[in-house]
Amino acid sequence: MTVESTLPAPAPSTGPEQPPPAPGGAPLLGHAWNLLRDPLGFLTELRDGGDVVRLKLGPKTAYAVCDPELVATLLKSPDFLVGGPLWETMGVLLGKGVATSNGPLHRRQRRAIQPAFRMDRIHEYAVVMEDEARAMAARWSDGQTVDIGAEVFRTATRIVARSVLQVESIDERADRLSAALHTVFEGLYRRMILSFGPLYRMPLPANRRFENALADLHRLVDEIIAERRAAAASMAPGSNPDDLLAALLDDRDENGETVNEQEVHDQVVSLVVAGAENVAKTLTWTFQLLAEHPEHESRLSEELESVTRGRPVAFGDIKELAYMRNLITESMRIRPAVWILTRLAAVDTTLGGYRIPAGSDIVYSPLAMQRDPRAFHDHLAFDPDRWLPERAADVTLAAHAPFSVGNRKCPGDHFSMAELSLVLGAVVQKWRVTPAAGADGTPRIGITLQPRQALIRVEART
Ligand code: HEM
Repeated sequence: MTVESTLPAPAPSTGPEQPPPAPGGAPLLGHAWNLLRDPLGFLTELRDGGDVVRLKLGPKTAYAVCDPELVATLLKSPDFLVGGPLWETMGVLLGKGVATSNGPLHRRQRRAIQPAFRMDRIHEYAVVMEDEARAMAARWSDGQTVDIGAEVFRTATRIVARSVLQVESIDERADRLSAALHTVFEGLYRRMILSFGPLYRMPLPANRRFENALADLHRLVDEIIAERRAAAASMAPGSNPDDLLAALLDDRDENGETVNEQEVHDQVVSLVVAGAENVAKTLTWTFQLLAEHPEHESRLSEELESVTRGRPVAFGDIKELAYMRNLITESMRIRPAVWILTRLAAVDTTLGGYRIPAGSDIVYSPLAMQRDPRAFHDHLAFDPDRWLPERAADVTLAAHAPFSVGNRKCPGDHFSMAELSLVLGAVVQKWRVTPAAGADGTPRIGITLQPRQALIRVEART
């Protein structure tokens, strides 16, 4: 008899189980098929399968997290990094800036940008926001059909460039930036869903458009940085502007060396992209909702009138505009720009008691959580009053976090709320926002969500 045969047999593994498989899927493509066909419906229905479910995306396994509390755990856990399909794809555009980096590099980059988003700075930026919002509203004429998606994209690009980066000569560049970003975002979504490299290296018109737009965007950012370096070199010591671009040019790495050109570039791209895209899409949806809901449009106009008494809305008014705040919050709940986010498991770990192997992709959908009937009464209704203090107390915070939570929480949250309020206010003070012929409010799927045809009709207020 050997020694081994006298030992008791090993106990069956009692480690955590893997999450249950998600329903659906097709041969070869797996659940990528469902994500291509109806991503919003598919991600929303996943919650019926469990709090965490297993997806097959072609040959890869990924995990979808469907419970808001577990999403909050995911976002706060050091076991998960910014990564996965969304952030890998976005890396083509953002390089290694604050939105895509991890670990010590992310901490240093975040420290470099954070002072630019303090409340006292936002107070200064509000002058630019007011100016740009009024200029946009002044360009339209009575009865005009406005392509609101394009208009607010241009305005948001100008605001982030003129305020955070203090770029003065922006006129022609804002148009180029908007056009380039639009094309790049369309191409990126295709690359996220169907990540098949050789397809995008073929000499097809769509690939050429994408590459040209990407090159133009990077060229524009290089121009902006080069101009600032040249201006700084010609200034007396100590008289350089004390702004974000100056802080990025001055940033030091862990060895005390100034950071390299590429990192400054990637940081600026990250800020311009995050600042323009998310605000523009949120504004587009909010105007779309106002056109669809005249009763809310009138209430907003009445609140603006009673707070401002006919003068143009200004930063100091925002704290008084409680109804507007609820309306923006509700717009971000029901029609969020950011509808899908991803992470990467850095180590073998668990989530909700399930086993998640190192290297796994994790997917979650803010849209699905924000439309969860378990968290929101009458969850598909556009109801700004659900955010009144007496009713909002029932909402679990995890179910609605449009700016995210944890160490990757959006640094631009207060900036955005100021910008959204001032642009919305300037337009609604001057124009009645009504539905336009040809408008189509069904969501168009991309890296972010937007209405398929974002058109509104504006009528002069008497
Ligand atoms: C309504 C407008 C906005 C929304 C809904 C929004 C939403 C978000 C969300 C959800 C994240 C976290 C992403 C993740 O966890 O993977 C994020 C990150 C970020 N946002 Fe925003 N954002 C908005 C506006 C802005 C603005 C105006 C700026 C800057 C001018 C900005 C800069 C950033 C940056 C730099 C990050 C990356 C932060 C990090 O990873 O440390 N965002 N944003």
